[in-house]
Amino acid sequence: MWIRKRRGWELKESALTPESVFGNRRRFLAGAAGAIFAPALLACEKKAAAEGDATPDPSTGLYPVQRNPRYALDRDMTAEGDATSYNNYYEFGTSKDVVAAAQALPIRPWAITIDGMVGKPQTIAIDDLLKQMPLEERAYRHRCVEAWSMAVPWSGFPLSALVALAEPQAGAKFVRFESFMNTQAAPGQTDPLYPWPYVEGLTLAEATNELAFIATGIYGKPLPKQNGAPFRLAVPWKYGFKSAKGIQRITFTDIEPTGLWQLLQSSEYGFYANVNPAFPHPRWSQESERLLGSGERVPTQIFNGYGEFVAGLYPDLNDRNYFY
Ligand code: MTE
Repeated sequence: MWIRKRRGWELKESALTPESVFGNRRRFLAGAAGAIFAPALLACEKKAAAEGDATPDPSTGLYPVQRNPRYALDRDMTAEGDATSYNNYYEFGTSKDVVAAAQALPIRPWAITIDGMVGKPQTIAIDDLLKQMPLEERAYRHRCVEAWSMAVPWSGFPLSALVALAEPQAGAKFVRFESFMNTQAAPGQTDPLYPWPYVEGLTLAEATNELAFIATGIYGKPLPKQNGAPFRLAVPWKYGFKSAKGIQRITFTDIEPTGLWQLLQSSEYGFYANVNPAFPHPRWSQESERLLGSGERVPTQIFNGYGEFVAGLYPDLNDRNYFY
C-alpha cells in the first residue's frame, strides 16, 4: 500500500485507532515497507485495476432520461471531468484520485437486498430493479463535509419508490444502507483503521422525502465506478458522506443506524449531518465551500439550499445534533 496521506477531514491515526491497532508492530512494519515499495505497488495496483472488470454495463441504453425541472440549480453544472475524477471512495484509498483503483470493482452481477422490518423482503438484481423504477434526471448540488462542492445531473429514481416496493412495517423508523464488501477489489477495505463495510442511515421520514434519490447514472450515462456504480444514494441537503456509494443492502429498522464515520469519530460526524454554515466542523468552518472546477468560493446555505423541501423534518434549527 502506498504512504498514507492524511486529507482534510481525516483524523490523526492516534486519535482514532484503538491502542491495540495503533501499537501493532506488524502494522508499523508493513507501513514502513509500504513507504519503500510504494511506487512499485501502486503500479501493480493500477495494472490490476486496468485488467479488472471490463464487462460492458447493460444499463447503458437506459440513459439519458428526462430531466425533472422541479429541482433547479443556482449555479453552473460542474464539468463531467471534474465530478468524475475528484472522488471520496475510501474503499479504494484515501486520495481523491481513485479512478484507476475503482475500475477493479465488479458491478455485474449486482443485487440489492431489502430486509428488516418490511412486508416484502427481497433480493433483486440491479437490472431488474431498474426496469421497475421511474427513472428521471435531477440536477442536484452536492456539498462535502470537507467544504468542496459540485453540481451534477444524477439519473436514477426517488428513494420513496424503493421504500414503497419494500412495504415497511408500522414500527420501522430508520433505513440503513450498507455498501459492498470486497477486499480483493477494494484494497482500502483491508485497512483495519476503518470499520468496513461503509454504512449510512436515514430516518424513514427522510428516506421518503421527495429529495432523497437513488442515483444509478450521471451526465446521461451509467454511473462510473468511482462515483458509486451501480447504485448510490444522493441526499443533497446533507453532507456528502451520508450519500453512500456501492450500496448492496437496505435494511428497515427501529434502531438508529451508526454510520462508518460516526463510528470512527462521533464528536465530528453525527447521524443527521444536515448542511448548516452556522455550525462549524470542530476543525474547520462550514461557512463557505470551494466549487470543483473553478475553485471559486461561495457561501454555504443551510440545508445546502434545499430548506423548502426538508426544513420541516427538523423541529429545532438551533440543535447541533441535526447539523454535524
Ligand atoms: N460511500 C462509500 N461507500 N465510501 C466512501 O468513502 N465517501 C462519501 C460518499 N459516499 C464514501 C461514500 C463522501 S465523504 C462523499 S463527499 C461522497 O461519497 C463523494 O461522492 P463522489 O465521489 O461521487 O463525489
